[in-house]
Amino acid sequence: MTSCSQTSIDVSLREYLDQARHRVDDALDRCLPEVDAGCGTATPARLAAAMRYSVLGGGKRLRPVLCLMATEACGGDSGAAMGAACALELVHTYSLIHDDLPAMDNDDLRRGRATCHKAFDEATAILAGDALLTLAFELIAHEVEPVSAALRCVRILAEGAGPAGMVGGQMADLQAEQQALDERIDGSLCELEAIHRRKTGALLRAPLQMGAVIAHAPQAHQEALDHYGRAVGLAFQIVDDLLDVQGDETKLGKRVGKDSGLGKWTYPRFLGIDGSRRRAQQLADEAVAALAPLGSRGHRLRELALALLERDR
Ligand code: IPE
Ligand code: IPE
Ligand code: MG
Ligand code: MG
Ligand code: MG
Repeated sequence: MTSCSQTSIDVSLREYLDQARHRVDDALDRCLPEVDAGCGTATPARLAAAMRYSVLGGGKRLRPVLCLMATEACGGDSGAAMGAACALELVHTYSLIHDDLPAMDNDDLRRGRATCHKAFDEATAILAGDALLTLAFELIAHEVEPVSAALRCVRILAEGAGPAGMVGGQMADLQAEQQALDERIDGSLCELEAIHRRKTGALLRAPLQMGAVIAHAPQAHQEALDHYGRAVGLAFQIVDDLLDVQGDETKLGKRVGKDSGLGKWTYPRFLGIDGSRRRAQQLADEAVAALAPLGSRGHRLRELALALLERDR
């Protein structure tokens, strides 16, 4: 998010995001298997290479950063949240690898480079995604303490990523696309919102919930962060839809104009550009208001919710 426009983002937030991203990048580097050319390696070299290629090849690290920010907003130590933060990024990266496959969105550019299946091959990309998903849960089991917190994080991440979360949203997204291609009538705004809340919102809600668990936050703070996560999660996908229409491919590091070509249900398609912007703003305001119980400790999250409206990548 370093490229959120200069005027719209407070310098100290930008510095915070840069530092947090570097900490996350270092931790991700350490948790991924090494590419060992020898035959004794536990992870096949090609699989390790594909995992490292996709995870370490850029990305805003928004989900891990949200987890660190949520922990701090509850008075916790963000270092204790790093394992959970990395697990979120591993699951997110797996979702991107699979999202880009020919059977799904069929994209050739991700994070400014060839998509995993283009740089390697389809089977390797599928397996790299599978491996990242599995590694995420291994990481939580090893790194989140106490065991009760690890168990809650496993549950939160599984729910966010699973059939009623991201995977379910991806299924619904593809079914809606097929419905549009079959020239059947568009769905309702309510159905579109349900797709976006699952395919993207669920994995953006999880970091807030996990951060609150790791910081042993009281119930009122857990609920405040959860409300924030739900609002920001939906707003984020609305802005993603807008960037597909109005964004710059070089800055985004992914193709633009894909959604209408594929017949995707998007906010601009349902509400137009201005209506989509208004809805995203409304959700960011809702997210900010939800933080009230956290007082001044919520200031980073407050700034971030507003900055995300103006992101260009
Ligand atoms: C892209 O997510 C996919 C969506 C859920 C919209 P990000 O915009 O967070 O992608 P990276 O991680 O920065 O590449
Ligand atoms: C993807 O939504 C949501 C995921 C679960 C990855 P999109 O298909 O709109 O994401 P981009 O635009 O390809 O990053
Ligand atoms: Mg998609
Ligand atoms: Mg896509
Ligand atoms: Mg998109």
